[in-house]
Amino acid sequence: MSAPGIGLGIVGCGWAASEIARASADMADIRIVAACDADPARAAEFAAKTGAALAPSIDALLAHPDVTTVYVGLPHHLLAPTVERALAAGRHVLAEKPLALDAAEARRLGQLAEARGLKLTVFFELRRAGTVEAARKLIADGAIGAPLLVRIRTIIDKRLDYWGAPSALNWRARKAEAGGGVVLMNTIHQLDTLRYITGLKVVRASAEIATMVAPAEVEDTASASLRLVNGAIVSLVASAHSPGAVNEEAIEIEGTLGRLDLPAPFGTTPLRLYRTADKTWSEFAMARLDSHRLMLESFADAILNDHPVPAGAADAAAALATVQAIYRSAAEGRAIDIG
Ligand SMILES: NC(=O)c1ccc[n+]([C@@H]2O[C@H](COP(=O)([O-])OP(=O)(O)OC[C@H]3O[C@@H](n4cnc5c(N)ncnc54)[C@H](O)[C@@H]3O)[C@@H](O)[C@H]2O)c1
Repeated sequence: MSAPGIGLGIVGCGWAASEIARASADMADIRIVAACDADPARAAEFAAKTGAALAPSIDALLAHPDVTTVYVGLPHHLLAPTVERALAAGRHVLAEKPLALDAAEARRLGQLAEARGLKLTVFFELRRAGTVEAARKLIADGAIGAPLLVRIRTIIDKRLDYWGAPSALNWRARKAEAGGGVVLMNTIHQLDTLRYITGLKVVRASAEIATMVAPAEVEDTASASLRLVNGAIVSLVASAHSPGAVNEEAIEIEGTLGRLDLPAPFGTTPLRLYRTADKTWSEFAMARLDSHRLMLESFADAILNDHPVPAGAADAAAALATVQAIYRSAAEGRAIDIG
């Protein structure tokens, strides 16, 4: 009989999977029991590090009796089909963002999980960053009133080898495998965060995207105007190669009663609140919590205690609908309404 708790099978032993292994290492509820990767050496190294059994294929991993739940950390085009296979095999799933390449596919996976009584969590771990949770509470408590204007800055200075060596570009550089660049890869976290803390969805997008520096088929630069369902306007700027950028993935929200500045979640700048009524700024110093670990705790709780998942297919679909509208707007040169 398998041990109680979650027996996690890892599909894709790359960078993101190594963070799952690190953050779950001393969690009593999660044991990594099997691992597989198309690169056998990578799988063997991961299995040796985590004590997992080496599975020669995804089918073998899904057939492992101790695998109750599957983590999918694969290139974007492989996420949805692999999640579907795991759900069809009756396993709960923890999928990496963006879960799918489009919103309809994300919704379909959500319906599949629900029909089978399985939990499908999407790893939007920024939801568990201390600054994000605090901002969500401040907004719910009415600290800034109704949002009017939001600035999202996805300003990053990635190394050029992020896209692979010049002679061997990796999946992140290829449109068919990545689905998109800095907006789908990075800004999607902030789009999810904004909806998580305000509860407001995006209803229209107007955008420009370009590939300025990256040796890639996908965009490394984007600018967009978004309209939120309450009428607020979002100004978004994203760059994967902004010279000298460090911890500049920030969100600022102006509201009817004040302004909230969410700093980059992994930096040291505090969350700041301005209250218009008393014309003062306050800073919220908080412990730098391990958002990966906290997200894994919420995910384990959802499975073991039949609670709602901390982020799911509907959340991925909402973020994907915005990303798709940004790409379509840029391609067609017009504003795109989101249904
Ligand atoms: N939540 C986060 O903060 C976060 C951070 C980084 C990456 N990610 C996401 O994680 C996913 C993976 O990204 P990464 O940076 O770890 O990529 P990666 O390239 O480091 O790892 C992907 C792994 O998948 C393996 N692989 C490819 N095709 C396979 C197949 N058919 N069968 C089995 N294995 C296969 C590769 O060999 C590689 O080891 C992406 O969805 C990415 O967006 C999320």
